[in-house]
Amino acid sequence: MNTNVRPDTMQRITTKELADSFIAEQIALVREQVGDKKVLLALSGGVDSSVVAALLIKAIGKQLVCVHVNHGLMRKGESEQVIEVFRNQLDANLIYIDATDRFLDKLKGVAEPEKKRKIIGGEFIVVFDEEARKLDDVDFLAQGTIYPDILESDGVKAHHNVGGLPEDMKFELVEPIKLLYKDEVRVVGKALGLPSSMVDRQPFPGPGLGVRCLGAITRDRLHALREADAILREEFDNCGLAKTVWQYFIAVPDMKSVGVKDDKRYEGWPAIIRAVNTTDAMTATIEEIPYDVLHKITERITAEVDGINRVLLDLTPKPVGTIEWE
Ligand code: XMP
Repeated sequence: MNTNVRPDTMQRITTKELADSFIAEQIALVREQVGDKKVLLALSGGVDSSVVAALLIKAIGKQLVCVHVNHGLMRKGESEQVIEVFRNQLDANLIYIDATDRFLDKLKGVAEPEKKRKIIGGEFIVVFDEEARKLDDVDFLAQGTIYPDILESDGVKAHHNVGGLPEDMKFELVEPIKLLYKDEVRVVGKALGLPSSMVDRQPFPGPGLGVRCLGAITRDRLHALREADAILREEFDNCGLAKTVWQYFIAVPDMKSVGVKDDKRYEGWPAIIRAVNTTDAMTATIEEIPYDVLHKITERITAEVDGINRVLLDLTPKPVGTIEWE
């Protein structure tokens, strides 16, 4: 039997009861697969890896070793939330690595989008590999592969980078949610007690804010982007758009314009709002954000974020524009 094919008989998980029975079934399977051995997991804080972590903590407790690599390109408060939920609330065996300096040093002066992505992906593997080698007798690698990943690729979650671990690091894979669709993963995550802020979150690219801090990344512009993005998210939460819009974020280009602040000339970067709806990310339409919300966001970002002096709105559907700017 090919275990990578979802059986026709498998019921769509839509309720807590169905999720609970899926969880019980997977706990038994994982225990049988790993016995008393250790399992390693790259925990990004995204929906899929978070749900796998919570499930494996239930199944094997401290035999699971979670590694959270902060590449310095996370959104505001994200790494802190991973630590709070997994280390403090779920008592996970969590290794936290702040690799911000390593990533930003490597990215210094690099403006070309593909090159930036390669550096971020490559450095992630190096950091993860270094940590993995420090641990004794880890035989298994858990991955948050989900069914669309299998349907769309060869089953290895390219964005999660661990697919590219060096040849000599041989692990058997543990992929408890590989037959689930995204909506089912969220139902299972809730049944496992994960907070809605983690389970219902919008998609976030592996290279993170790195592809939204356009061109060569600098620390000050990255900081401005992170703060502006936090304001956008807060205001979308406040007006209810966060519940309905598929993906929304800020991009900050590497250019300045002239402005005026406190009666003085004030050169700053523009913050570009992008808010899109889609079902499969292959095409996307633009969310029509009410003008009062746009005004509020503009007011807050220009007043609260150092270095930003204009707020722009991206009205481009996909195609022609991709969802991300890089
Ligand atoms: P584009 O920009 O290609 O994005 O229209 C489509 C969707 O994919 C997300 N995206 C990524 N997700 N790693 C990811 O996990 C990546 O490198 C990556 N690049 C883009 C993007 O945010 C959008 O949801």
